[in-house]
Amino acid sequence: MTAAIEVRDLCYTYPDGTEALRHISFRAETGLRVGLIGPNGAGKSTLLHHLNGLLPESRRGSASVLIDGEPIDRSNILDVRRRVGLLFQDPGDQLFCPTVGEDVAFGPEQMGLADGEVRRRVRNALEHVGLSGFESREPHHLSAGEKRRVCLAGVLACDPSILLLDEPSSSLDPRGRRELLSLLRQTPLTQIIASHDLEMMVELCQQVVVMDKGQIVAHGPTLELLSDEPLMLRHGLERPHILQHRHPHD
Ligand SMILES: Nc1ncnc2c1ncn2[C@@H]1O[C@H](COP(=O)(O)OP(=O)(O)O)[C@@H](O)[C@H]1O
Ligand SMILES: [Mg+2]
Repeated sequence: MTAAIEVRDLCYTYPDGTEALRHISFRAETGLRVGLIGPNGAGKSTLLHHLNGLLPESRRGSASVLIDGEPIDRSNILDVRRRVGLLFQDPGDQLFCPTVGEDVAFGPEQMGLADGEVRRRVRNALEHVGLSGFESREPHHLSAGEKRRVCLAGVLACDPSILLLDEPSSSLDPRGRRELLSLLRQTPLTQIIASHDLEMMVELCQQVVVMDKGQIVAHGPTLELLSDEPLMLRHGLERPHILQHRHPHD
C-alpha cells in the first residue's frame, strides 16, 4: 500500500553548517496519527518542515520525501503545500490578518477559489474547530487555545489530506489542551504530531517516532515505546505518568 508519507534517507544541513537531519527514513500509513518525540534540538521541527516542502533538500538526485507515493519536486511543490497542512509551533507565525475570517480565508484565496467557495470553506473550518461566528474577531485578542484553533481552521480550509502539527499543546491551559485533543481526534486525516506532551501521544497516536541528534532511534506502537523506560531515559524523555502502572500489552 502507498504510504501517506515516505521519507528515504533524508539528510539536511542548515546553511550555517548545523547538521539537523541524518539519514532519516520512515513511512506513515494513511489515516494514522504518528507522534514525533525527542529532546529539544532533535530535529523534529526540521523534519516537519521537510514534509511539506518548506525546507529544500540538501541532496540532489533522487527525491527523499514522497507524499502519497509522489516525490516532492519543483513541479508539484505548491500542490504539496496545500495537501500537507503545517501548523506552526507559534500561532504568531501563522496569524497575520486583522480578522479571524480573513486569516482563515487566506489559503483558499491563494488557491484562486471563487468567493462563495472561500466563504463556505471558512464557515465549515471555523465550525469544525468550534469557533463558528468568530469571523470578525481580532486574532491577537483571542486566548492561546482559540488562536491555535484559528490556525488549524486556516489549514483545514485548504482541504489537506495530511496535517503536520508542531508542539500543538504547548502554551495551552488544561481546558484548551483537552479541547485541542478532542478536536484532533475528530479530524480524520493522517497526522504527524511533534510534541513533548507524552500523555497526548498516548491519547492520540497509534505510533511514535523517537528522534535524537537528527536521527530516528525508534519507531513503533506508542504504548510499547513509551513504556520502555531505558529507551525514554536514553533520549531525554520520561515514561508518562498514565503508563506508570500499565503493561504495554494491556
Ligand atoms: N534556522 C536554523 N538555522 C540553523 N540551525 C537550526 C535552525 N533551526 C534549527 N536549527 C538547529 O537544527 C537542530 C534541530 O532543530 P529543530 O528541528 O528545531 O529541533 P526540535 O524541533 O526537535 O527541537 C538543532 O541543532 C537546532 O539548533
Ligand atoms: Mg521544534
